[in-house]
Amino acid sequence: MSDRDTLLSVRDLVSGYGSTRVLQGVDLDVERGSVVTLIGRNGVGKTTTLRSILGSVTPTSGSITFDGTDITMLSPEKTAREGISLVPEERRVFPGLTVSENVEIGRIGGRQDIDKPTVEEIIDEFENLARHRNSKGANLSGGEQQMLAIARALVSAPDLLMLDEPTEGLAPSIVKQVQRKITQLNDEGVTILLVEQNVQVALDAADYVYILDKGQVVHEGPADEIAADDEILDRYLGVSAAE
Ligand SMILES: Nc1ncnc2c1ncn2[C@@H]1O[C@H](COP(=O)(O)OP(=O)(O)OP(=O)(O)O)[C@@H](O)[C@H]1O
Ligand SMILES: [Mg+2]
Repeated sequence: MSDRDTLLSVRDLVSGYGSTRVLQGVDLDVERGSVVTLIGRNGVGKTTTLRSILGSVTPTSGSITFDGTDITMLSPEKTAREGISLVPEERRVFPGLTVSENVEIGRIGGRQDIDKPTVEEIIDEFENLARHRNSKGANLSGGEQQMLAIARALVSAPDLLMLDEPTEGLAPSIVKQVQRKITQLNDEGVTILLVEQNVQVALDAADYVYILDKGQVVHEGPADEIAADDEILDRYLGVSAAE
C-alpha cells in the first residue's frame, strides 16, 4: 500500500488501562476510501484500539498517523478536529434529548475548517430519524438509536468514521439497514473502520480485514480471502464461513 493512499496508519501501538496492557503492538493501515474491519473474540482489544485512535485512551507507545499528521497523543476533541469520528459501543444516545438535539451535540466538535452539514440535512438522510426528529432518544427503538448514533457522528463531516459493533443486539432486518447505510456512506466517500462481532456483516462490508487476538493483529487480508479461510475463522473467531 503506498503512503499516498493510506489515510490512517497505526504502528506498534501499545495501550491499556493503568498498569493493564491491552494492546501489545498493533499495526494496521486504513486505505483512503476503503472499508476496513477489525474482528476478534470478546476482550481482545478491539474497542481499546478505537479508543486509542480517538485519544480517549492514551497510548503507552507506538504511533498513529492520520492524513500525514501524527495524532498519537491528541485528545478526542483534537482528533475529531482532524476528521475522525467514533460511533461508540452501546451507542450512547442521550435519552433525555430529542433526535435533533442529539445530532446538534455532534455538530459542536469535529472539523472546523470546512462547512459542516446542518442537523436538518443529516437527519433528512435517515428515513427512520426524519419521522422522529422531536422524539426523545429514550423513546427510539434499538435500530433508530443506532442510526442516531451514526447521524451524530456524521454531522461533524468526518473523513474517517469508526463504528464499534453497530449491529449488536439488532434484529436481522435492522442489521441489513445498518449494513446498507455503511455501504452508502462509503460510496459517498467516507472511509470506514468497523469493529464487528457479526463475522458475516464484517466480511460482507469490508475490503480488508484485520483479526485481533490478545492485543495483537494475528492475521490480515482482503475480505474475500479471509471469508474463504475456514481454518483462520475457526481458530481466531470460533466460526466457519457461511455456506
Ligand atoms: N475502562 C477499562 N478499565 C480497565 N480495563 C478495561 C477497560 N475497558 C476494557 N478493559 C479490559 O481491556 C481488555 C480489552 O477490552 P476491549 O473492550 O478493548 O475488548 P473488545 O475486543 O472490544 O471486546 P468486546 O468484544 O467484548 O467488545 C479486556 O480485558 C477488558 O476487560
Ligand atoms: Mg468492544
